[in-house]
Amino acid sequence: AADAVESLVRSKPDAVLGLATGSSPLRVYDELVRRHRESGLSFARARAFMLDEYVGLAAGHPQRYRNVIEEEFAGRVDFAAGAVQGPDGNAVDLPGACAAYEAAIVGAGGVDLQLLGIGTDGHIAFNEPGSSLASRTRIKTLTAQTREDNARFFDDDIEQVPQHCLTQGLATIMSAGHLVLLATGKGKAEAVHQLVEGPVSALWPATIMQMHPHATVLVDDAAASRLQLAGYYRQTYLSKP
Ligand code: F6R
Repeated sequence: AADAVESLVRSKPDAVLGLATGSSPLRVYDELVRRHRESGLSFARARAFMLDEYVGLAAGHPQRYRNVIEEEFAGRVDFAAGAVQGPDGNAVDLPGACAAYEAAIVGAGGVDLQLLGIGTDGHIAFNEPGSSLASRTRIKTLTAQTREDNARFFDDDIEQVPQHCLTQGLATIMSAGHLVLLATGKGKAEAVHQLVEGPVSALWPATIMQMHPHATVLVDDAAASRLQLAGYYRQTYLSKP
C-alpha cells in the first residue's frame, strides 16, 4: 500500500489522496512517515480527503477523525496547512457541509488513490449495510455492530461512541482513481469473502468495489481465510506476467 502511495506521489506530486482512519491503515502511515524521514518522500504539494467523521465530537476530542489523522499521519509528514480535509461533523447545517465536501473533492480534481479499511459488517467508510450503492456524502447512523467494534477507542464504553457520522458515499468512493483496501485478522474474513466473491449488494456495501476498474485488496492469511478461490488468487499473483 505504501508503494502505491509513494509511486503516485513521486510521479504526481500534487496528487489527491483519500485517507481512512481506524486501525487498518496505521502501519501504512508509519511506513510513509519512515519514507518521508529517510528517503525524502514529500507530501508538500499533495492534498488529502478523509472518508468520514463522527457527528458531534468536541473539536479537541482525541477520537475526532480530523485529530486522529493529524496524530497518526498528517502531522508527521509535510502536508501544507489546510491540505487535509474532512467532512465537518460539527457543522450547524450538516447536509450543507456534506454537499460542500463533495464539491471540494470535485474541485480538487477527484481522489487519485483511496485507502480503505472494511468493517466486520462489510462497510467501507461508514456506509453501513443498506447504503445506497449510488450514495454521496451524507449523514449515516452507525450500526450497533460498528459502535461495538469501535468502543475500543472510547474506553471500551459503547455509550461514548457517537450514533451518527458524516461519510463519503459509495459513489463518492467509486469516483476515486485507485482503491486500495486493507484488511487483517479473522474478524474481517467474512466481509473480505463477500467483498471479493459475494453478489454485489447493499447488504455488503464493499461489494460495489467489484465494479471498480482498479481496486487492490490487501489481506493477511486470517482475513483471507474464507476466500473460496484463495488458491487461484495465489497462483495468479505468483505467475503474474
Ligand atoms: C474509517 C473508516 C472505516 C474503517 C473500518 C475498519 O475511516 O472509514 O470504514 O476503515 O471501520 O476499521 P478498522 O481498520 O479499525 O478495523
